[in-house]
Amino acid sequence: MDLKPTSGSITPEERTILKDYATSHNIKSVLEFGPGYSTMSFLACEKIVSLEPNKTWYEKYKGIFEPFANVHIYLFNPNETNISVPEADSYSFDLAFVDSPPARGVLPRFNSLMYALARAKVVFLHDTKRQGEQNTIRTIAEMHPTLEIEQYKTSRGMTRFTRQEN
Ligand SMILES: C[S@@+](CC[C@H](N)C(=O)[O-])C[C@H]1O[C@@H](n2cnc3c(N)ncnc32)[C@H](O)[C@@H]1O
Repeated sequence: MDLKPTSGSITPEERTILKDYATSHNIKSVLEFGPGYSTMSFLACEKIVSLEPNKTWYEKYKGIFEPFANVHIYLFNPNETNISVPEADSYSFDLAFVDSPPARGVLPRFNSLMYALARAKVVFLHDTKRQGEQNTIRTIAEMHPTLEIEQYKTSRGMTRFTRQEN
């Protein structure tokens, strides 16, 4: 089974970057905000927990990824400052990928990014060519001065945050 990229999804180039990173860094567990074409990047990993705010898309991707026992899709509430998903809250992940909720407000995806950074040492954020996501990156960088931040110059922009452990 394969999915095709859409106008809102990551690009094939970004899929390759994510897949290669996961393979070369021996990533076993992934937390994702926004299931879809991007989920395909991680299918070789042992466990993928993918969170979706919209019931319609949740039902659609739950059906699509039903054949994959390693993919677990849950709903989250995008209006909560402190996101809480019982199936993910108390877990840690090797990597997180943030591509949801749909961008809104002054600091888009700030809450999902904070949730991901609390649970994964490495976090990728999508759509970082946009001004809103750049605001989010700047705010997070000020809050966490020791975070390593690398921007990938893909067509939609992707940024990797790596926590420096002591
Ligand atoms: C950009 S999509 C996530 C796409 C996914 N990460 C991928 O690469 O395919 C971000 C959010 O937009 C919503 N969404 C998904 N597909 C959509 C579509 N075709 N049109 C509008 N919104 C969509 C969902 O709520 C999703 O979590």
